[in-house]
Amino acid sequence: MNVLILGSGGREHALAWKIAQSPMCDRLWIAPGNAGTAQVGTNLAIKVGDFQAIKQAVLDHAIDFVVVGPEDPLVNGIYDFFRSDPQLARVAVFGPSRQGAILEGSKEYAKEFMMRHGIPTAAYRSFTRKNLDQADAFIDSLTPPYVLKADGLAAGKGVLILPDARQAKDELREMILGGKFGAASAKVVIEEFLSGIELSVFAITDGHDYKLLPSAKDYKRIGEGDTGLNTGGMGAVSPVPFAQGEFMKKIEDRIVRPTIRGLEKDGIVYTGFVFFGLINVGGEPKVIEYNVRMGDPETEAVIPRVKSDLLEALYAASQGRLGQVNFEIDSRAAVTVVMVSGGYPQAYEKGKPIAGLDAVQGSVVFHAGTKLSPQGEVLTDGGRVLAVTSYADDFRDALVQSYANVDRIHFEGAYCRRDIGKDLEKML
Ligand code: AMP
Ligand code: GLY
Repeated sequence: MNVLILGSGGREHALAWKIAQSPMCDRLWIAPGNAGTAQVGTNLAIKVGDFQAIKQAVLDHAIDFVVVGPEDPLVNGIYDFFRSDPQLARVAVFGPSRQGAILEGSKEYAKEFMMRHGIPTAAYRSFTRKNLDQADAFIDSLTPPYVLKADGLAAGKGVLILPDARQAKDELREMILGGKFGAASAKVVIEEFLSGIELSVFAITDGHDYKLLPSAKDYKRIGEGDTGLNTGGMGAVSPVPFAQGEFMKKIEDRIVRPTIRGLEKDGIVYTGFVFFGLINVGGEPKVIEYNVRMGDPETEAVIPRVKSDLLEALYAASQGRLGQVNFEIDSRAAVTVVMVSGGYPQAYEKGKPIAGLDAVQGSVVFHAGTKLSPQGEVLTDGGRVLAVTSYADDFRDALVQSYANVDRIHFEGAYCRRDIGKDLEKML
């Protein structure tokens, strides 16, 4: 079949790399893709939000199956767009319906969903300008720090954690009245602060059956020792050493299965990835957030561990027959170290030539923010530039391998965290 992947990051390169290996894949297209996806398929200069241009490309290239990478087109209803157009009736889509994507698109909706289905999460209330007068009392009823979340999509920036009540009350007003995150913060969820180690668990679902993907831990802060500003993610380790046995069973019994059953009970059409952002609170897993897509850079550590044919599983899910698919995971660990542009996550320059990619040995380099120059040279084109993934039986050996290859790659201003996985070593 002919496949189109939507997106342009390291996640999409990892998905493209894996899907290109499938015997079921004839031609692979990526829109818009990057210099890495161009190695495994053909890039199309189409934005993920331009549904009409996507439709035209699907018709022009006889595409049979569309795999959606990022959340934006999902929240904007790309699944429903395909299903409501008779010309696209034969084209399968992997990604939830608009209704399903609200699990990521609205924090309040996600919280209500979890309450309805008895899924463990932080206690919360939501506020708008209409009940702002009650918010101060709610803040005073909580113990610090205070967690404030813009209800809508805010490009990963909509969560504030504030040490004292005065600041929380001021920021709440900035969000609701001052439009701090635009329309996304017209409604704000305030919730109980949970203390523990975070981890990510992923599933593929057809809305009835599911297959668990490997767990992963992501490193969000720019600085070593988890300091400094938040980023899209600076590295990932899979599996998470403590996400096994009894704890993993709790995750499946209390969170994964009830979520899939909940989608089904609520009549929500959902064929796609579910990303469970979890926290381990004294051995009890709780949901911090749902995303309706894979994580990035977690995908770059998780997908390489899938032994089975990923395209077969995703396509089967889109046809509602995931239960018939055999799905195997590699027992080796995989780690990803992200190389970013100098200055990221604040202002940074683009267009720097990348040297040394040919010298890499024993790692897979996924491109996150790169492009090809007219001369075919690979240039930096984003904050997160490359994701260097390695496997080993022990994740510490995989890290040594990734760092050896990071040292072979050069571009002006390149930076990476040197402590990916260090916190997990203590737990072995
Ligand atoms: P989110 O955008 O929902 O992923 O939130 C961003 C980050 O804020 C999470 O990865 C957590 O580190 C933190 N966070 C969110 N909610 C809570 C909570 N209830 N308690 C503690 N930390 C939280
Ligand atoms: N790495 C976290 C995310 O993709 O949201």
